[in-house]
Amino acid sequence: MSDTAGTPLLRARGLRKEYGKGEGRVRAVDEVDLDVGAGETVAIMGPSGCGKSTLLHLLGGLDRPSRGEVSLNGRRIDDIGEKALARLRRTAVGFVFQSFHLMEELTAVENVELSALLAGRSPRAARRRAEELLEQVGLAGRARFLPSALSGGQRQRVAVARALSNEPLVVLADEPTGNLDSAATLDVLRLFEGLHEAGQTLVIVTHDVRIAATADRMISMRDGVLVDETRLTGGTTGRLGALAGLGD
Ligand SMILES: Nc1ncnc2c1ncn2[C@@H]1O[C@H](COP(=O)(O)OP(=O)(O)O)[C@@H](O)[C@H]1O
Ligand SMILES: [Mg+2]
Repeated sequence: MSDTAGTPLLRARGLRKEYGKGEGRVRAVDEVDLDVGAGETVAIMGPSGCGKSTLLHLLGGLDRPSRGEVSLNGRRIDDIGEKALARLRRTAVGFVFQSFHLMEELTAVENVELSALLAGRSPRAARRRAEELLEQVGLAGRARFLPSALSGGQRQRVAVARALSNEPLVVLADEPTGNLDSAATLDVLRLFEGLHEAGQTLVIVTHDVRIAATADRMISMRDGVLVDETRLTGGTTGRLGALAGLGD
């Protein structure tokens, strides 16, 4: 499951994650090798319980592998200390979750701003960045709303803005449209397409074929293993790299 163009932005080798001990042991991720090139969008699909979330958490340093290596931008992240790992999550990775995970007591703009502050921006720069991002996701008019006053689709757009607030090397999205209706799914879909065209590296776990169809590559996962890969050759500008790679 490798990409050929240069050093991959995100690289996993022999990645394994086990939960529990003895009889009850579960191997959630089993010897996964994965390369994601800069600017690539990769979709991961597979049945519930096959290890997609676990893999995403390992790739973004939310969890540590039992075995194997993960590198981001050429640097190992599986064996670094807790502090360095926390810093990496704040500054280099953007996460989008199925259930949004917004801070309910903060407004939309404050949710995004907090993330920018944690990444090290000054208060003024963080506010400016948050306002810009909310505009980018079409929510400038909702900046002062609490999450409870927003629809599911709007909440997820705030969560995407938050994920972008630290200018992450990679955005990792775990079933981002899993809780959304069809219209809201299309909004989020367009957002990811825009990010893709702008060159943002994305790994999206999804059950939605429309979302997966925006990717450069679609990878199937079963029982902790990556079993199949399809390189897509659709029409957006972000796919030029994939088209160029067809000959290999
Ligand atoms: N924290 C955990 N403790 C024990 N088992 C877990 C934990 N997280 C996930 N699992 C198990 O690992 C397997 C993969 O889970 P998960 O990565 O959530 O799959 P998916 O996201 O594809 O639904 C499942 O069997 C699940 O029950
Ligand atoms: Mg999951």
